[in-house]
Amino acid sequence: MNVLIVGSGGREHALAWKISQSTRVKDVFVAPGNAGTALDAVNVDLDLDDYAAMVRYAKSNGVGLTVVGPEVPLANGIVDVFEAEGLKIFGPAKPAAQLEASKVFCKEILNAGNIPTADYWSFRDADSAIEMINDRFPGDSPNTACPVVVKADGLAAGKGVTVCSKKQEVLEAIELTARDKVFGDAGAEFIIEEKLEGQEASILAITDGQTIIPLPACQDHKPAYDGDTGPNTGGMGAYCPAPLVTEEDMAWVEEHVLVPTVHALKANGTPFKGVLYAGLMKGPQGIKVLEYNVRFGDPECQPLLMRLKSDLVDVLEAVADGDLARIDPLEWDTRPTCCVVMASEGYPGSYEKGRVIHGLDEASRVENVKVFHAGTALDPSGVSVNAGGRVLGVTAIGDDLKAAQNSAYEAVKCIQWQGSWYRTDIADKAL
Ligand code: AMP
Ligand code: GLY
Repeated sequence: MNVLIVGSGGREHALAWKISQSTRVKDVFVAPGNAGTALDAVNVDLDLDDYAAMVRYAKSNGVGLTVVGPEVPLANGIVDVFEAEGLKIFGPAKPAAQLEASKVFCKEILNAGNIPTADYWSFRDADSAIEMINDRFPGDSPNTACPVVVKADGLAAGKGVTVCSKKQEVLEAIELTARDKVFGDAGAEFIIEEKLEGQEASILAITDGQTIIPLPACQDHKPAYDGDTGPNTGGMGAYCPAPLVTEEDMAWVEEHVLVPTVHALKANGTPFKGVLYAGLMKGPQGIKVLEYNVRFGDPECQPLLMRLKSDLVDVLEAVADGDLARIDPLEWDTRPTCCVVMASEGYPGSYEKGRVIHGLDEASRVENVKVFHAGTALDPSGVSVNAGGRVLGVTAIGDDLKAAQNSAYEAVKCIQWQGSWYRTDIADKAL
């Protein structure tokens, strides 16, 4: 059969690379894809908002399975449209995708399942939020300690979350969200929650709403610069497995987080299938859920799929069929993987596009390395140029994490474009 992958980032390149290795798959189409997916698959220029056009494409091109990468089409109901047309598609239906698209919905499900998460309050206007803050954190100084996180309810391309320490920061975040409406409708409702201390890990699980297959834990690096400093990004690198998450933790998360979440979603009338991605904080208070995503993480997908030995198409198709129980236990390469993201000058703020990327061939010759493309495009002469903030996810596998990290950075050093940069400490926390 043919497979259609929806999206254009590093995650989608990793999916295309892995899916094209399946003996059951003839052609892999990526809509719209990037310069990297053009090498490993076939890019198709489809409008990601036009689900009817995508359905037509799937029907007339022998697409037996569609795999959705990003959250926006999921939240907007692409799965519902494909299924109504009798097409197989991997991802949650629109009502279940609210788990990521609405922080309030997510908190309600977490509470319904009695799942450990930060305490929170939800608001629709600035005044009541400020009143709550003044009640709980009395003191007129802008420097009054106020360890909370302000989160716009809706999707805000990863920008709707402000982690605060001082009262001044909290009041500014409330102002921006509720009065200046910088996140638009996404901030019409917002939550304020207690700030949790500790280290973060991502545990992704594949589920059809009955059977749950947890994947090995990963650790992302959200802050832009070394030492976890600077502004928040979509993720500057990830490695797998993350030793922070022990075997006992994994079993605990399955029992106390994943299973009750799947049950709570079902009981709510919003059964979930697809990738359930738990963003977790492990600290003095144990493990708590920071957030849920309803898709593969980017960049977590890259180091994860590089370790997966089983045929991914069998697994994704079983989910679409609602019969994940038929799948044998997944086989994983025991060797760890490390993905270093290379970014455009200015990211996560604005950046120039169209700069020629040098050294891709040299990097791809480094042993045990795969260069996944994210924000890249082919210019008219067929040369790869940057076209997004996160440009490449240079991913390596090694006998141990140090070896994987070394290979990834060896390949990174082959690559350069005007203004290119990367964090130099991806995976250091585990070494
Ligand atoms: P989210 O979009 O909810 O994952 O938030 C983005 C990032 O903000 C997370 O990856 C964390 O680094 C941070 N964050 C979110 N919620 C909290 C919290 N309650 N305490 C501490 N940090 C948080
Ligand atoms: N790497 C974080 C995310 O995919 O949301």
